[in-house]
Amino acid sequence: MKLNIALLPGDGIGPEVIEQAVKVSNAIAKKFNHSINWVKALTGAAAIDAVGEPYPIETHDICLNADAILFGAIGDPKYDNDPLAKVRPEQGLLKMRQDLGLFANVRPTFTFPSLIDKSPLKRERIEGTDLVFLRELTGGIYFGKRGRKNNGNTAFDTCTYTREEIIRLAKKGFELAMSRSKKLCCVDKANVLESSRLWRETVQLMEKDYPEVKVTYEFVDAVAMRLVQWPNTYDVLITENLFGDILTDEASVISGSMGLMPSASIGLKTSLFEPIHGSYPQAAGKDIANPLATVLSAAMMFEDAFNLKEEADLIREVVNQSLEKSIVTEDLSDGEKSYKTSEVGNWLSDQILK
Ligand code: IPM
Ligand code: MN
Repeated sequence: MKLNIALLPGDGIGPEVIEQAVKVSNAIAKKFNHSINWVKALTGAAAIDAVGEPYPIETHDICLNADAILFGAIGDPKYDNDPLAKVRPEQGLLKMRQDLGLFANVRPTFTFPSLIDKSPLKRERIEGTDLVFLRELTGGIYFGKRGRKNNGNTAFDTCTYTREEIIRLAKKGFELAMSRSKKLCCVDKANVLESSRLWRETVQLMEKDYPEVKVTYEFVDAVAMRLVQWPNTYDVLITENLFGDILTDEASVISGSMGLMPSASIGLKTSLFEPIHGSYPQAAGKDIANPLATVLSAAMMFEDAFNLKEEADLIREVVNQSLEKSIVTEDLSDGEKSYKTSEVGNWLSDQILK
């Protein structure tokens, strides 16, 4: 099969972790006789430095013409403490999500048996955790009307959702629940917010189309609490943009390292795959960042974008082997020998070709 993939390394550790995912994907392509055409493009601070904007039109065109997009991370501390900065790397990410219509962000949280004691939570609480958040990604307060009033002394951001936006996200949630344990949790704040009441009303109306799915409705504050108490009682959770942003960071610590969890953003025309961690600027260029979240994002890409499940499973299998054999970067090494980012990538691709 011919795979046409846009490659967006981005900022910070992005390029280093992406390089490992490329090695692993190329090894898979060799083993299974695929040919990958990687088309590299600029995003984030790297794009601002090069052409003055974080999501240039050339990058958009490359993404639109690709079968899938593999993305590293964006963000650079030189913009973080400057509230007056006119362009920011994150604007590129938001523009990309909006322009590509990437409305459903799939963020799984699962545990690796060999890492269970690395989690800050107790083993008995997290064993068996295997949940997926579906975060709405192109609406809500992230994209609502915002501004200042009163000579700049009053600020506002608004959260707006249409029924259509809720239906298309919830539909993905119901479908995912059908392919898993048929449990769906709708996370909202319907006791306070009108937008949440529309979410709840809409999802309730959809229940009749999926009679086998058991739907529960929980308030976001309660979910934040239950997520660290009994994460293994959840399966598929659907929620709006900001709640999903916060809860998926919370969920990511369950597995033991931020550097482990992959994600997919499903769009109308194409899909994007990226690690859920950020650009981790302190580690940039040091060859120490954990590449596994990006490698596992490539696995999601093979499975979801190209329907190549065997290829995806092999990637997951060699990742598990690397964890069992402690071929890991320093974030997972227990003060024993740790491996460089590039060494982990080399080990995984060699293992695939064995
Ligand atoms: C994420 C990030 C982004 C978000 C930022 C960088 C804009 O935190 O992908 O979760 O808030 O969506
Ligand atoms: Mn986030």
